[in-house]
Amino acid sequence: MKNPLRIGLIGSKFMGRAHSNAWKKAASFFETPLRPVLQVACARHRHSLEEFAAQWGWQQTETDWKKVVNSPDVDVVDIALPQQLHYEVALAAAREGKHIFCEKPVAMNSRQAEEMLRVCEENKVVHYLNHNYRRTPAIAFARRLIDAGKLGRIFHWRCAYQQDWIVDPAFPLTWQLRAETAQAGPQWDLNSHAVDLAHYLIGPIATVSGLTAQFVAERPLADESSSGNLQADALGDALGKVTVEDAALMMVQFANGAVGSFEATRFATGRKNALTFEIYGSKGSLKFDLERMNELEFYSAEDADGCQGFRTIQTTEASHPYAAHWWPPGHIIGYEHSFVHAAVDFIEAVASGTPIEPNFASGVQILKVLEAGLESARTQKQIVL
Ligand SMILES: NC(=O)c1ccc[n+]([C@@H]2O[C@H](COP(=O)([O-])OP(=O)(O)OC[C@H]3O[C@@H](n4cnc5c(N)ncnc54)[C@H](O)[C@@H]3O)[C@@H](O)[C@H]2O)c1
Repeated sequence: MKNPLRIGLIGSKFMGRAHSNAWKKAASFFETPLRPVLQVACARHRHSLEEFAAQWGWQQTETDWKKVVNSPDVDVVDIALPQQLHYEVALAAAREGKHIFCEKPVAMNSRQAEEMLRVCEENKVVHYLNHNYRRTPAIAFARRLIDAGKLGRIFHWRCAYQQDWIVDPAFPLTWQLRAETAQAGPQWDLNSHAVDLAHYLIGPIATVSGLTAQFVAERPLADESSSGNLQADALGDALGKVTVEDAALMMVQFANGAVGSFEATRFATGRKNALTFEIYGSKGSLKFDLERMNELEFYSAEDADGCQGFRTIQTTEASHPYAAHWWPPGHIIGYEHSFVHAAVDFIEAVASGTPIEPNFASGVQILKVLEAGLESARTQKQIVL
C-alpha cells in the first residue's frame, strides 16, 4: 500500500467538485508515488457540506477552515475558495508546514502573492497554482512543438477567453462581481488563465496596454448559499453595484519581441467557455479552442509545396502528453481530466520534493501583467513591466 497523502479541501462548490474528482481519479489512472486520501472537506454551510462529503467520500467535515489548516491529519491544503481568501489560508497553511494546491487567480494583488511565495519558501512547502489548462494534452503538446522549434521565431499571440453567463442583467451579484471578493472581473478570472498560457508558450511580457468596459452597473443581490457552478439565485428585488469590469482587453509586447492580444469577457453571447488562442511563427502556426480541447490545429511551412494547410491533430495518441493513461487513441477526454493531471503532477512534486509550475512565483508574474492591464486602462498609458 502506498503512503497516504491526506488532503484537506476548503471550498465545496464548482472547484470543490472538480478537485474531489481529481484526487479520486489520480492514483487509479496514473502510477502516483503517494495515494491521495480525501481526509476532510470544509465549507461554510453545514447541510450542503454534509451532502457533498457523503457524495464524494470525504472522511470528515469542518466549517472552520482554520481547523483544517491546523489539523495533524492533513498533509495538503487544497484551496478551492474565492480569491479573497487565498492569501490568508495559504499563509496559515504554509506556516503549519502543509503543501498547498491553490486555485487561480493566486490572490487579490501581486503583493499578497509575493508574501504567499515568501512564506512557502521559508517553510519549504510545495505550492501549486491551478492554471489547469496547461495540463490538457493539446496545450502541453503545443509547448513540445514550440520547444522543438516547429514554429520557428514567434511573431504573434492572439487569445480570447469568452463566456456569456452574466449577459442577463437579472443574473445576481455573486462574489465574482464584487471587487471586495474578486478584486476584478474577467481580467482576474479569465485573463489570469490566458496570461499563464502566454507565459508558458511564448515567454515573459514586457509592455501592456489595457482597455476595460462595464455593461451592467447594478444587479440583484445574490443568495450565496445557493451559488456554485456559475449559477445563483437572487435574494429578492434589492439591487447592488457591480464593482468589477465586465470585459478586459490587453495588447502586449513579449520580451522576445513577439506581440500579442488578450480579450476576456463574460458577455460573448453564445460562447460558454471559449478559450481560443493562435500562435504565428516563421516556420509554423498553432490554433487551440478549449471547447474542442482534444484538437490542436498545426500549420507547417515546412510541408511540401502544394500540400500546406492547417491540419487537425487529435491529441489522444499514447505519445501525446498524459494521453497514454486514459483510453485508446480517439477516445477523447474532457475538462475534468486537466484537474486529474494537475493532481498527479502535484503528488509527484510533493513526493520528490521538487517544485511544480505554475506556482506562487508564476502567480506573482501573472498578477503583475493583470495589474498593469487595469492600470493602463485607467490611465490610458502603456505600462512597461
Ligand atoms: N481552474 C479553473 O478553471 C477555475 C474555474 C472556476 C473557478 N476557479 C477559481 O476557484 C476559486 C473558487 O471558485 P468556485 O467557482 O469554486 O466558487 P464557488 O462559489 O462555486 O465555491 C466557493 C466555495 O467556497 C466556500 N467558502 C466561501 N467562503 C468560505 C469560508 N470563509 N470558509 C469556508 N468555505 C468558504 C463556499 O462555501 C463554496 O463552497 C476561485 O478563486 C475561482 O477563480 C478556477
